Parts: sequence; C-alpha cells; structure tokens
Amino acid sequence: MKALILAGGAGTRLRPITHTRAKQLVPVANKPILFYGIEAMVAAGITEIGVIVGDTRAEVMQALGDGTSFGAAFTYIPQEDPLGLAHCVLIAREFLADDDFVMYLGDNLLEQNLAAFVAAFETARASGEPPVAQILLKQVPDPHRFGIATLDSAGNVVELVEKPDDPPSDLALVGVYLFTARIHDAVAGIRPSERGELEITDAIQWLLDQGERVRCELLTGWWIDTGKLTPLLEANRLLLEKIETNIEGSVDQASTIEGRVIVGQGAEIINSTIRGPVAIGAGTRVEDSFIGPFSAVGSRCVVHHSEVEHSVIMDDSSIVDIARLEDSLIGSNALVQRSRQKPRALRLMVGDHCQIDVE
Ligand code: DAU
Repeated sequence: MKALILAGGAGTRLRPITHTRAKQLVPVANKPILFYGIEAMVAAGITEIGVIVGDTRAEVMQALGDGTSFGAAFTYIPQEDPLGLAHCVLIAREFLADDDFVMYLGDNLLEQNLAAFVAAFETARASGEPPVAQILLKQVPDPHRFGIATLDSAGNVVELVEKPDDPPSDLALVGVYLFTARIHDAVAGIRPSERGELEITDAIQWLLDQGERVRCELLTGWWIDTGKLTPLLEANRLLLEKIETNIEGSVDQASTIEGRVIVGQGAEIINSTIRGPVAIGAGTRVEDSFIGPFSAVGSRCVVHHSEVEHSVIMDDSSIVDIARLEDSLIGSNALVQRSRQKPRALRLMVGDHCQIDVE
C-alpha cells in the first residue's frame, strides 16, 4: 500500500499566518501538523509516500526532506493550481500505479489508529463483496462545511455530497481515505464542481453510482480540520494532553514547573512558573513569566515579564511585557510587546486580514 498526502492548496482561513507559510506546516504542540499524518502512515507500515505540493512547495520540501528522517521515501508531485482533491489523485497517477493507497489531507489531525483502519480494509477486500474504497466518518455539529455521507439502515454508504446547504446527515467525511486503483476510473469520469474543483466526494459517489461497494468506519476519537484558529488551538490542546515531561533545558531555583512540561535543549526557565501541559522549544528563554496550560512556545523564542496561556507561539518570536496573552496564534519572528509608557499614538505594522483590539 502507498500513501498520497495532500500539502498543496491555499490556506485562506489562517491568514496572515498562511501568507508566509504552508498551512500544513503550522505547528501544534511544537510539531508541524503534516508530520503527525506522516508519522501515522509510517507507524502503519506505509513508507512509499507521494506528497502533493503547491505554491508553498519549497517550504514543504525543505521541512520534509526526502523522507529518510521519517523512515519513509517521499515522491513530490507538484500541482500548479489547487484544482481539487480528485485532481491530486489524477496527477499522482504515475506514482500510484495500480496500487492501493491511503489518501491523507495534510491539514487534518485525528486521534486514529491508521494501522487498524488499513487492516479492516484489507480484511474486507478478502471477503465475498470486496469494497473498492473505504471512508472514515465523524458526526459534526456543522455539516455544511464538509463532505457528508448518507447511510442506509444497515450502515452502508448510499450517497455522498460535498458541503451541502441542506445536509442530509451530520456524518462528515474525515480527510483519510483508502482507495484501490478503481478510483482512477472515477476521477477520470467526473466533472469539476460548482466551486471549480474536481471533488473526491464526487469521485466516491461515482463509484457508488457504478454499483461499487464503499466501506465506511465511524471515527471514535477526535478529529480536527485545522484550517481555522479555534480548531487549531483545540488540536494543540488535545496533543499537549498526551505529552510526557521531558526537561532538557535548564530551570533555575526561582522557577516552578507544575504538571507535564517539555523544556527543549538549551532552553532556560528563569524566575518563572510553567503550569503544564506546556511545550517549550529548544533555545527559548522564559524569564519573569507565567506560561499556563495548553501553551506551545516554539524554538529560540523569548517570553519576558509576560503571561501566556492556551496559545501557540511559533519559532523565533518574542513576547515582552504582555500582562496576559491567551487563545492566540503568534507567527514566527514576531514581536509582541507593550510599550512601557502609555502610548499616545499606536505604531503598527499589521498583516492583511488581522484583527487588533486595543483597550
Ligand atoms: O477536512 C475534511 C474535508 O476535506 C472533507 O469533509 C471534504 O469532503 C473535503 O472536500 C475536504 O474539504 P476542504 O474544503 O476542507 O478541503 P481543503 O480545500 O481544505 O483541502 C484539504 C487539503 O488538501 C489541504 O491540506 C490542502 C490540500 N489540497 C487541496 C486542494 C483543493 C491540495 O493539496 N490540492 C488541492 O487542489
């Protein structure tokens, strides 16, 4: 079995962060989102991985390398424009050949057992009525944002529709799919949707229309489509929940560490309280500060005389004299500081689509 991981597309909903970086590389619990999916594949024994890359290909390729560091081999497949998930399958035809494959959306994070999902498909393939595809479904409160499945009373998939105005159910398609080579007939057989994309949802519906069997599983664990701030912070919270304490940096006598906390190599905690779960990256200095639960501070950051809670701060950024920063996503190389004197006028450099609330 091979894998196809999708790391192209545009990240409009996490702007301004995604003006300068691939949305799949935004870190949660100090690790890029994309790495979790790749690690799950390798853990399931899938090491031949095709990676769809778009405008941000240079950055994605630099972050991932050739796959050796993951114990995998990557084949990069450039996509000129984000023409849809089924378009990704179309352009990966040569890489995929006639093999079965798992398709994984690079911005999805889920608590999963990919190996069990694959094993269930292989068992079903050996049965009398072999499915040609397998999908993963999860109940969601906002079904109009996703691909949605309708099941019959026996739990078989009967219909799929992409982002319906009037959702027939609340069962959303999670961004992990298993396909046999039959999917290539489907992607060749469909037309672009109203939004101009070749939809994988339509391709799977095409399979159903041809009388093929599509197996489904319900996801019991959590699943987050990380494209927006609130779900991203939620993913950060869920992943920090699982960390184990590992202090490689230095913590001085005047500091307190409570709960599960990671302090990376060369990081310094000075006269501060860290209340886990918290991850602090290598080479970061935290001084006269409080870092509260569910915070991930990247590498080479400075947090000085500030309080941070339930936030993601990316590499090389500084937070200085901020009474309290919470529920925030701070990009890399950013400086957030409070002027010591009450400013008469604000001097700001603000990216597109930002919201600044000043008191
Ligand atoms: O997250 C699950 C949902 O993902 C499913 O419920 C939907 O049925 C499915 O269509 C998809 O919807 P999204 O609108 O959320 O997909 P998005 O455009 O965000 O793309 C998902 C990933 O694939 C993302 O990492 C970018 C990448 N991508 C996307 C497109 C359209 C590509 O690499 N190339 C593309 O052409």
